[in-house]
Amino acid sequence: MESLKSEHSPAPTTPAAPKRVALITGASSGLGREFARQLDGLQVADELWLVARDQTTLAAVAASLDTPARPIAADLIDPEAIAHLRTLLAAERPRVTFLVNAAGFGKFGDWQTIPDHAVNAMIDLNCRALVDVTRAALPFMDRGGRIIQVASAAAFAPLPHLNVYAATKAFVLHYTRALRWELHGTGITVTALCPTWVKTGFEKVARASGGGSDVGHLLGEQDADTVVRRALGANRAHLAVTCASPQAAALRLIGKVVPSCITMAGWNLLRRL
Ligand SMILES: NC(=O)c1ccc[n+]([C@@H]2O[C@H](COP(=O)([O-])OP(=O)(O)OC[C@H]3O[C@@H](n4cnc5c(N)ncnc54)[C@H](OP(=O)(O)O)[C@@H]3O)[C@@H](O)[C@H]2O)c1
Repeated sequence: MESLKSEHSPAPTTPAAPKRVALITGASSGLGREFARQLDGLQVADELWLVARDQTTLAAVAASLDTPARPIAADLIDPEAIAHLRTLLAAERPRVTFLVNAAGFGKFGDWQTIPDHAVNAMIDLNCRALVDVTRAALPFMDRGGRIIQVASAAAFAPLPHLNVYAATKAFVLHYTRALRWELHGTGITVTALCPTWVKTGFEKVARASGGGSDVGHLLGEQDADTVVRRALGANRAHLAVTCASPQAAALRLIGKVVPSCITMAGWNLLRRL
């Protein structure tokens, strides 16, 4: 009787493994798009979820990749967009193997020339949205999971005429370092990326304010592919922070040992070049 039963009952099925997803914000341009391209090559996920506002550009990026990619058009400043992302994650229950928070922007200018809405948007996108996306993704991450938070070398010192931007990046750096401690033992590696200038869409957005010419030449601009390659290498090596260039590493050291008033005086000369 028992053997008959086992012949006719359906074979026990093992539940399908959850889909591996790499979630990348700011994926329509610059560093985020380059992360999507390089993660595509590394085959870290079954699907790439690409987040930014511009649906058309996102769709073009998705079409250029070998890994299936899902464009998710969302203005991350809007809390509804974060709620939508949470709903999507809850519905699909993927295994998030990689998270890159690259959506962000800066504005050149002083407290009078950067409009209120731009100041608030910088804080909302660079800080609140980054934290929200991280907190939305973490319940779907496990051992081997990887997070790269795009901060900036601007995190290492207060910078007049790049004031709010630099302060948001200091927030990202501190948040990331402490999160790393909180995740100790989980096998999830978090790295803060702190580059100096990179050739992306950043400069155009930064100059589109009343104080757009307050910062002169962006000296020593790096290519996005070099920065992203180094960031991925540093994350693989479980580093907490990566500067991705000797000049950014020098700024990190200066930020630790030189008083802020001297660093700010130096920056004030440098930005006029
Ligand atoms: N380039 C540099 O010199 C440099 C240096 C250090 C750090 N960083 C940081 O690197 C990160 C990436 O910037 P990038 O240099 O690659 O500049 P970018 O080419 O302008 O890319 C910014 C990305 O953020 C997205 N984004 C902007 N506002 C958004 C919003 N409200 N909601 C969702 N997505 C939004 C943009 O897409 P949509 O416009 O389609 O939304 C775009 O994909 C930023 O956090 C930036 O602060 C840049």
